[in-house]
Amino acid sequence: MKIRAAVLEEFGRPLEVQEVDLAEPKAGEVLVRLVACGVCHTDLYTASGADPSGYSPTVLGHEGAGVVEMVGEGVASLAPGDHVVTLFSPQCRECAHCLDPRTNLCLAIREQQNQGFLPDGTTRLSRDGEPIRHFMGTSTFAEYTVMPEIALAKISPEAALDRACVFACGLSTGLGAAVNTAKVEPGSTCVVFGAGLVGLGAVAGCRLAGAERIVCVDPAEQRLELARGQGATDTHSGGPEVVEQILELTGGFGADYTFEATGIVAVMRQAVESARMGWGLATVCGVAGKGETLDVVPRLLITGRRVAGSSFGGVKGRDQVPQFIDRYLAGDIDVDPLISHTISLDDVNRGFDLMHAQDGIRSVISFDG
Ligand SMILES: NC(=O)c1ccc[n+]([C@@H]2O[C@H](COP(=O)([O-])OP(=O)(O)OC[C@H]3O[C@@H](n4cnc5c(N)ncnc54)[C@H](O)[C@@H]3O)[C@@H](O)[C@H]2O)c1
Ligand SMILES: [Zn+2]
Ligand SMILES: [Zn+2]
Repeated sequence: MKIRAAVLEEFGRPLEVQEVDLAEPKAGEVLVRLVACGVCHTDLYTASGADPSGYSPTVLGHEGAGVVEMVGEGVASLAPGDHVVTLFSPQCRECAHCLDPRTNLCLAIREQQNQGFLPDGTTRLSRDGEPIRHFMGTSTFAEYTVMPEIALAKISPEAALDRACVFACGLSTGLGAAVNTAKVEPGSTCVVFGAGLVGLGAVAGCRLAGAERIVCVDPAEQRLELARGQGATDTHSGGPEVVEQILELTGGFGADYTFEATGIVAVMRQAVESARMGWGLATVCGVAGKGETLDVVPRLLITGRRVAGSSFGGVKGRDQVPQFIDRYLAGDIDVDPLISHTISLDDVNRGFDLMHAQDGIRSVISFDG
């Protein structure tokens, strides 16, 4: 079929919205009609050429939500009409990692996905017979996509898809960092560095876990306002003196749990230094620049602080994304303030501009208009 999609032709150039060919789903694959898709930093990172593992041409986009249109042979868990959220982090439910509760890093299709192919090593996307690669296994800046069954989370049909899409990446990453990776305990004190979608998700996750005190740190005052809306009890504008002030705020000890959601290695260090002596856990969510390293004084670790990293919040997507969506429907997670602009597919480059300008938390592409 012919579909319209935003193609990355050349790094550092605007995406080109154009008609491309999409083949029918093969065995284990599903055709999804996209209804909405968030514009995320990872899309921009790849489009800019900064990502050393990037490739082109490819259809970008990975924060999609839509409706199943057709299923390939052997697909049992999904049927036409089902509402789904796309997962760049799949869950096969069979590999050693899927069977272990300690990680969400499914091993099933990693190599092919990293190179822009579907699990059988080919693409369904093409133009004039030339293959176009699938970005992150999702390629959701498009009217339709073909994805592996194991990379789709079936969600309640009650959830508005233009809200559900933010659970495909940033929001679930923050929520999961708090509830899965850190396993925040009721009554604890938490500090979240960064109030973008990931950090705001972490604030919400700490609140859902019953944290008593949640300090959110971000230089942008409007974002701190949003953090208060998600449950932050204290806010701070950050900077070199923030660690000292967090220590003061916590009786000289530091916080039980800290979270970094900025991608800045100096802030990751602050997250470690503001974690409590004895048991404080710093969870790193941000993606640092190529070659950057995290500088930590070993004494901080010997005296009981710990550091953890979190990919997609440790969320096993097919199981947990539907649960997060149910909590959203129950009124426990406030998604509306996180969606700042609704744009059309043709405006996808404006979505990048808005992100550059830090205008709003998320721009969401609507395919209905
Ligand atoms: N681990 C994962 O699976 C995963 C998933 C999605 C995104 N990410 C990464 O998480 C990070 C955050 O993503 P986002 O979408 O929320 O980004 P964002 O740019 O919207 O938010 C980052 C926030 O950090 C704030 N900030 C800047 N300097 C600061 C400082 N010194 N102290 C405190 N805050 C500061 C900014 O004002 C901004 O609000 C990025 O690095 C992104 O690549 C990781
Ligand atoms: Zn993302
Ligand atoms: Zn797996």
